[in-house]
Parts: sequence; C-alpha cells; structure tokens
Amino acid sequence: MKVYLETYGCQMNEYDSELIRSILAPHGHEITMAVEEAEVVLINTCAIRENAHRKIYGRLDMLRPLKKEKERFVVGVLGCMAQNLKEELFDHPVVNLIVGPDSYRSLPKLIDEVIGTDRQEIEAYLSEYETYSDIAPTRVEGVNAWVAIMRGCDNFCTFCVVPYTRGRERSRSIENILSEVRSLAEKGYRQVTLLGQNVNSYRDEGAGFADLILKAADVPGIERVRFTSPHPKDFPRPLLEAIASHPNICKHIHLPVQAGSDRILDLMARTYTRKEYLRLVEEIRRLIPGIALTTDLIVGFPTETEDDFQETAGLYKDCRFDSAYIFKYSERKGTIASRKYPDDVPPEVKTDRIVRLIDLQRAISLEKNRAKIGRALEVMIDGEAERRPGHQMGKTEGNTTVVFPRTAFGPGATVSVQIDDVSSNTLYGRPVER
Ligand code: SAH
Ligand code: SF4
Ligand code: F3S
Repeated sequence: MKVYLETYGCQMNEYDSELIRSILAPHGHEITMAVEEAEVVLINTCAIRENAHRKIYGRLDMLRPLKKEKERFVVGVLGCMAQNLKEELFDHPVVNLIVGPDSYRSLPKLIDEVIGTDRQEIEAYLSEYETYSDIAPTRVEGVNAWVAIMRGCDNFCTFCVVPYTRGRERSRSIENILSEVRSLAEKGYRQVTLLGQNVNSYRDEGAGFADLILKAADVPGIERVRFTSPHPKDFPRPLLEAIASHPNICKHIHLPVQAGSDRILDLMARTYTRKEYLRLVEEIRRLIPGIALTTDLIVGFPTETEDDFQETAGLYKDCRFDSAYIFKYSERKGTIASRKYPDDVPPEVKTDRIVRLIDLQRAISLEKNRAKIGRALEVMIDGEAERRPGHQMGKTEGNTTVVFPRTAFGPGATVSVQIDDVSSNTLYGRPVER
C-alpha cells in the first residue's frame, strides 16, 4: 500500500516517524510524498498547545474530498493527540484509525484490519517498557540524526500534557544507543542530537547522561553531539564538565526556564527557584565561557500578574539568552493545572506579554549577534541557502544559522566563516582559511 506520513510537533515525533517508516517497510508499504495517491494517510500529531490541535483538525478537514473519492482509504491519527483525545477523534468523519506513541508496532496489523472496510480501530495504551530499541529508524538524509535516548516524562509540570501522552520515563541502554550512533557515523552522519524530555534523568544501571554523551562524542566520525532538553532542577556538574572538556560536544545548552517569578514556578511545579536558576546559569557560564544558552518560556500561566511578568522579563535581561521559544499558556486536558487553576489571564494580556518578551529577545539576540562581527566561527554546512542563490548555510556550535557564499564543500563539512553582518537570528559572512 502507498502510505503518506506527515509529522507535527517536536523532534521526538520526527524520530518516531522514522521508526514508523521502519515498522511499515517489511510489510510492503511504500512511503509516498503525494497525499492524492495514498491509500493510507498517517498523521503523527502533537498535543502541546491548543493551536497544535487546531492545525490537525484543519488538516483532517482537507482530507474530506479524498475520503469521499476513494474506496480504500485509511486516515490514521498517531502521536500525542491520539493518546490524549483517544476515541474523541472518531468524531471527525475521516478518521478511522487512532494509534498512540507506544503502539506503533501494531500499525501494520491495524491498517490491514481497517483498509477497505468501514471499521474503526484504536490502540492507545501507554507502556512502561516500550523503547523501540530493536528498530533502526529510516532516516531522511541529512547532516544531523535524532537519537531518542529515553521516552516519556515523570516530571508532571502542572501545565504539561507530555507525561499523559508519552507515559512513564524509560531509558534505552547505553550499549544500544552507542551501537545506533556508530552505525550512523558509518552511514555518513556527522552530527547526532540526543533526545529526551529530561535528559538529566537518563539512567542505565550506574551510568548517567554525562557518561553517555562522552561516549557518543568519542564515536569515530561523529563531529558534533547535541542534546535536548535538560531540566534545570537536576543539572549535574559532570555534564557541565563533559561539555567543557570534549571538543565534539557543542557548546550550547537549551535550558527551559518557563517563568521568572517564584510564585509561578511553584504553581508550575518546576521545583527550582528563580535564584537557583540564575545560579545555574552563572555556573554554566563560568565553567564554559562563551556557551550559547537558549530557553523556553510561557506567558499567561493562571494567576500571572504584571508583577510576575516583570520578574520574568527581569530574569530575561539578566540571563541574556541567545534565543528563546516563547509561548502563551494553553490549557491542556488532563493536566494538573487544568484541574487546579482556571485559565484566568485574558487572551489580550497574554498577547501583550508575549509581544513584549519577543521584542526584548530580538534586541538581545541582535546585540549578541553583533558581537560576533569580525570573528571567524566554525560552521557545519547543512546545504544550499534556500533564499539566497549561490549561497550555502550551516550552523555554529551554538546552533545559530550562518549564510555564506557557496564553497567547494558539501553538507556535513565544517568550514570557518568570518562574520560580516547579522540579523537577530542569522549571521552572514565569508569562508576563510582555517
Ligand atoms: N521536556 C521539555 C519540554 C517539551 S515541551 C522540557 O521540559 O524542557 C516544549 C515547551 O512547550 C515547554 O518547554 C513549554 O515552554 C511549552 N509548553 C508545554 N506545555 C505548554 C502549555 N500547556 N502551554 C504553553 N506552552 C507549553
Ligand atoms: Fe513537560 Fe515538564 Fe516533562 Fe518537560 S519536564 S515534558 S515541560 S512535564
Ligand atoms: Fe512532542 Fe508535542 Fe508530543 S511537543 S512529545 S509531539 S505533545
């Protein structure tokens, strides 16, 4: 059968879609890029905010004409929204298959059961053990490969749906992860990004995340190792030492802060204070000078006042993040916040706060980028710059995009680029001798 697979949400979902390709392949299913010719449409979904749900419903609406036209047509909703909403998704007339993140092994069987019939099937229960460790993902070509080192999350931040859609936290074994990294290096990948909802709680018997990342960085052929995300509450010193000491581990930490007011941090159950976070940032910068720091932030969490917001803005100015993802709070079904705290910050106040923070971030990013003018930075080439003919683009260690005139080198090569010009999110320069 011809299968069309579309992916929304985070890198974990990208990774899962690569697993899904591998699960389908032995059953003779062929991936197509054209939805019109597909007999099976699978949508791997995200549930993190309401607009993620809205996007999927919009997508399902677009499939209505195909559904009418075709006799044999399966539309499957996979991923976090499937796990979160379960049977409720059958209310949409095109959906006849619902499969949660721990049930992908059943996909071939479920597709066979539904195709050409008017049946509906759902499999969405969470497992405490499933890590798909024995399945090698079918990756799209590129420089970077995602590697999930763990699944699930046990943190239960009160705003977050992930513990309910992804279930309990479980780690893959170091040996299993390293053998995946070795085979990636053999296939020509130059960078791996280790993925987990909270990589700091990675455990394999006595070993922790710092042990794992050091070993991954030593795999011959792998030149850059990245990871996302660590939780500020249990940031281990050995991990900082590993990043500081190993040239292959990128000098970049994504450290989601979520809020800058202690009262809000407490309601969010983040389990650190503003002061502890600032102390951690200070320690990181002391041990790894020049490191890039990025963050995630939520505005308009229930009961957030202008004073709370000002504390967040203040923390923001103190930390001077290289960049940030800023979100408006979105109430999620089943979360602790949805049960305990009414979503009482008006939408226009959320909008006002997000705009102010984005402006602030843009100014800081621009200032930080300006400081790079005149410096030569190591850039790993991703490929052609889509919007600038004759140019290539790549990433610095800090994960900032750099655009420069085309070199003789291809994706995966590292070149030295002297920075001449910047915007708040891109650097422009020319290749120089190393
Ligand atoms: N495990 C990661 C977060 C994954 S979700 C971590 O803890 O670092 C990515 C980001 O989405 C979060 O950091 C948070 O800022 C945002 N987010 C999660 N739930 C949200 C909600 N209900 N409303 C708005 N933003 C949310
Ligand atoms: Fe969600 Fe918190 Fe887990 Fe991140 S650590 S996935 S924000 S519950
Ligand atoms: Fe990722 Fe969205 Fe699920 S952020 S873990 S796909 S809810």
